[in-house]
Amino acid sequence: MPGLATPCESGRRRRSLSSPVLLGLLCTLAVLLQTGSGCPSACVCNGTEVDCSGRGLVALPTLSLPPGTRTLLLPNNRLSSLPPDTFANLTGLERLDLSNNFLDNLPATLFRELGNLTDLELRNNSLTALDRELFQGLSQLRRLDLSLNGLSSVPLGLLDDLQGLTWLSLATNRLHALERPAFEPLANLQFLHLGGNPWECDCNLRDFKHWMEWLLYRGGRVDAVECTLPKDLRGRDIRGVPVEMFNYCLQLEDENGSVGVSKGGAAPCSRAGGAQPSETPPVADAAPAPDCVRQRYRPVSVRRAIGTVVIAGVVCGIVCIMMVAAAAYGCIYASLMAKYQRELKKRQPLMGDGDADGDPEEKQISSVA
Ligand SMILES: *[C@@H]1O[C@H](CO)[C@@H](O)[C@H](O)[C@H]1NC(C)=O
Ligand SMILES: *[C@@H]1O[C@H](CO)[C@@H](O)[C@H](O)[C@H]1NC(C)=O
Ligand SMILES: *[C@@H]1O[C@H](CO)[C@@H](O)[C@H](O)[C@H]1NC(C)=O
Ligand SMILES: *[C@@H]1O[C@H](CO)[C@@H](O)[C@H](O)[C@H]1NC(C)=O
Ligand SMILES: *[C@@H]1O[C@H](CO)[C@@H](O)[C@H](O)[C@H]1NC(C)=O
Repeated sequence: MPGLATPCESGRRRRSLSSPVLLGLLCTLAVLLQTGSGCPSACVCNGTEVDCSGRGLVALPTLSLPPGTRTLLLPNNRLSSLPPDTFANLTGLERLDLSNNFLDNLPATLFRELGNLTDLELRNNSLTALDRELFQGLSQLRRLDLSLNGLSSVPLGLLDDLQGLTWLSLATNRLHALERPAFEPLANLQFLHLGGNPWECDCNLRDFKHWMEWLLYRGGRVDAVECTLPKDLRGRDIRGVPVEMFNYCLQLEDENGSVGVSKGGAAPCSRAGGAQPSETPPVADAAPAPDCVRQRYRPVSVRRAIGTVVIAGVVCGIVCIMMVAAAAYGCIYASLMAKYQRELKKRQPLMGDGDADGDPEEKQISSVA
């Protein structure tokens, strides 16, 4: 179980570049792209569409494309990185296809000017992480394809501006859990593709499952979400796992006061917090877990449960204080009485007569009564 999806595996998908000779050739080709603001020689332009697919491009220094370009096709090249201002002047762009390249890291501001973008294809690249500001301002985006990458998480905030999104694919990545709050802004989503990921169907996925059910209820569609963990759910579709199976999560949360503890100890939070040191190798503890910090959403039932615990605690506290006060009062009273009795005994020899007188009196009174 440990090391199931360590970040160290991220380099695996990176493919080696071919010979330096070919590289040089391709570079010259890429430079040719820059010349003039007409159609780059490596591309075919037709109206507002620029098609540069399958040209073996390794780099795109600042593109000068015909103004008013609406479609830019760059699939099946060898692009591994893009400068932040690559698309800075293409504000009218509506469709951008970067699939089947080797992109492994996208600058946070790469798409910042593309406010009219409706279709973004990043399928089959080597992306392992996305900056949470990458899609900021893409309010017109309808279709986003991130399938066939190495993503292991969807950061909170990444999808916040994508209220218009109707189609999203995260299929065939390395996702094992998703956070519900990251997906809540997607009010218009209709198709969600999640297959081909190593889902861990534990407490970390429970809230997301609820959100998915809500999406289905709205008429949306989600493909199969097959669990790989825990073992007894392997191969099962999480949509068919009854919600009751996740009831133990609430108890865990109440005990701990935080989400993210799982049976298997495979949760990122428990890993980072060192909750089960016996099960986790010490190396894993060194890795920061930003997933744990962003708990900005908590279901009502949990909040209610926590409220109940707090109230019960306060009531218990008050009762305890009262009991302590009563006990203290009893002790003081008892010690005072003991002292009084001792004093009484000390004085007995002196007041023997008085006592002798007192007793018959009491007897008389009681007999009278
Ligand atoms: C240019 O686009 C039009 C319409 O989109 C299409 O009919 C035509 O075949 C295209 N020409 C070339 C050379 O691709
Ligand atoms: C964008 O266009 C402006 C002027 O139209 C130009 O000065 C600038 O260099 C261009 N930027 C890029 C990245 O092409
Ligand atoms: C973006 O789209 C709107 C509406 O279709 C259009 O009016 C505007 O000119 C477009 N922006 C650019 C920079 O082309
Ligand atoms: C992914 O991209 C690589 C390189 O461009 C290509 O060889 C491979 O066939 C693509 N895989 C799929 C499933 O499209
Ligand atoms: C709760 O989490 C903390 C660390 O965040 C850990 O030390 C503790 O053992 C956990 N408690 C339970 C009941 O799992």
